Amino acid sequence: MKLSWFVLPLAAAGALPAQAQDLLYTRSLAATCANCHGTEGRTVPGSEVPAIAGMPREYMLRQLQAFRDGSRPATVMHQIAKGFSEQQLEQIATYFAAAKQ
Ligand code: HEC
Repeated sequence: MKLSWFVLPLAAAGALPAQAQDLLYTRSLAATCANCHGTEGRTVPGSEVPAIAGMPREYMLRQLQAFRDGSRPATVMHQIAKGFSEQQLEQIATYFAAAKQ
C-alpha cells in the first residue's frame, strides 16, 4: 500500500501557504453564490438571476451593502447579504470582479 496516498492530502491541508488558504476561503464564500448566480458567477443565457462574474468590484460592493442595509429592495439578496461581514463582502466582490465573464 502506498503511504503517500494518505499522507499527501494531510500534508497539503496543514501546510498550505497562507495565500492559498485565503484563496480557498474566499472561493468557499463565493461558492455560496453559485446556486443562483451560476458556477463562478456565470449564468446561462436567459437566466432571471443576473450574472455576477466580472462585475466591477465597487459596484458589486455597493449593491451588497445596499441589500444588507435594506436600501436596495430584493427578494432574496437582502437576507443573503446579511449573512456576511463587511470584510467578507469585500473579499467576495474582489473575487468576482476578477472572474472571467
Ligand atoms: C437564492 C438565490 C441567490 C443566491 C444564493 C445569491 N443570489 Fe445574488 N441575486 C439573486 C437574485 C434573485 C437577485 C436579484 C435581486 C433580488 O431579487 O434579490 C440577485 C442580485 C444580486 C446582485 C445585484 C446584481 C446587479 O446587477 O445589480 C448581486 C451583486 C448579487 N446578487 C451578488 C450575490 C453574491 C455575491 C452572492 C453570494 C454571496 C449571491 N448574490 C447569492 C439570487 C441569489
